[in-house]
Amino acid sequence: MARNDWDPNDLPDLSGRRYLVTGSNTGLGFFSCLQLAGAGAHVVMTARNPSKLSRARAAILAQVPDADLETLALDTSNLGSVRAAAATVRGRVGLHGVLFNAGIVHPPKTREVTRDGHELVIATNALGHYALAGALLPALAAARGRMVWLGSVATKLFPWDPIDPELVDDYTPWRAYVQSKVATSALGFEADRRLRAASVPVASLVAHPGYSLGGRTRRIAGVSVPSRRKRFLGGLQAAVSQSKESGAWAPVRALIDPEAEGGQYWGPARTYTGSPVLVRPSRVTIDPDVGARMWHYAEHATRAEWPYLKGRKLRLR
Ligand SMILES: NC(=O)c1ccc[n+]([C@@H]2O[C@H](COP(=O)([O-])OP(=O)(O)OC[C@H]3O[C@@H](n4cnc5c(N)ncnc54)[C@H](OP(=O)(O)O)[C@@H]3O)[C@@H](O)[C@H]2O)c1
Repeated sequence: MARNDWDPNDLPDLSGRRYLVTGSNTGLGFFSCLQLAGAGAHVVMTARNPSKLSRARAAILAQVPDADLETLALDTSNLGSVRAAAATVRGRVGLHGVLFNAGIVHPPKTREVTRDGHELVIATNALGHYALAGALLPALAAARGRMVWLGSVATKLFPWDPIDPELVDDYTPWRAYVQSKVATSALGFEADRRLRAASVPVASLVAHPGYSLGGRTRRIAGVSVPSRRKRFLGGLQAAVSQSKESGAWAPVRALIDPEAEGGQYWGPARTYTGSPVLVRPSRVTIDPDVGARMWHYAEHATRAEWPYLKGRKLRLR
């Protein structure tokens, strides 16, 4: 049962705990790293652009001088990069949590394909994280850790195409985003069902940040520098939006609240804004048939099978 006195500005002590966040250089990923580091965690910050990543690291150190940070290059749209990053991390001591945050939120106008041959938005937001999760599963299991996937209110508001996940026939930028977020959330819930069935001691949760705008977010040099136009538009939407700093509250709670459990969905109390609470997921994302279908699709698309899920029970030292 989740506590109702959670204070996102006063997190539990996370000393001795290790977390990895994708897309750490800006937005929700950056503020998640800041919040985790501020609570004493060791944070592996990952991003695809090394100079943006080092600026983000410096920005955290400016606010949390004793932050325990590590940086690692990781492009979630590139399965080779995912494998290389996972190989760097997984040999070390256990990982207490991974936040699958990286994402394209403004998809390209016309359909683009990654070097692995997949539609860019679903590859970045869902497939790369599926492959990363499988590769990091031993490190997570060693620490009885958890993984958190980033969903979206969009999965409730807009239709999804079950037949053509990569929108070969009918691509629009917004449809690509919705496809990717249904896939990400369905994979997150399906992962929890499969991990439980195989008695793997890793929980999988899904969280969403409501409606979190750069234009409502404080300025941080090199990390969050919203233009005057963005600030103006953010101001117009003030009643239904929040900063990315507040948007990070729900994913961070899902990642670290000792009372949170696998299969849960966390989000802001007032749907688009507010403190982090348990919320109801959209029906499509928790449908086991959709989950199984997405799982098979991700398995084939990435050629990555998760360990432990077939037959043999996991034995931990
Ligand atoms: N903001 C919202 O209201 C909202 C609502 C629902 C869900 N979400 C989800 O929350 C997550 C973060 O959103 P945000 O608002 O923080 O977006 P954002 O400010 O645009 O940040 C996106 C992050 O993802 C990174 N990224 C993009 N493509 C990548 C790749 N191929 N490999 C590694 N990193 C990559 C970006 O890095 P670069 O700087 O290199 O591009 C950036 O760090 C996304 O998954 C999004 O779908 C956001």
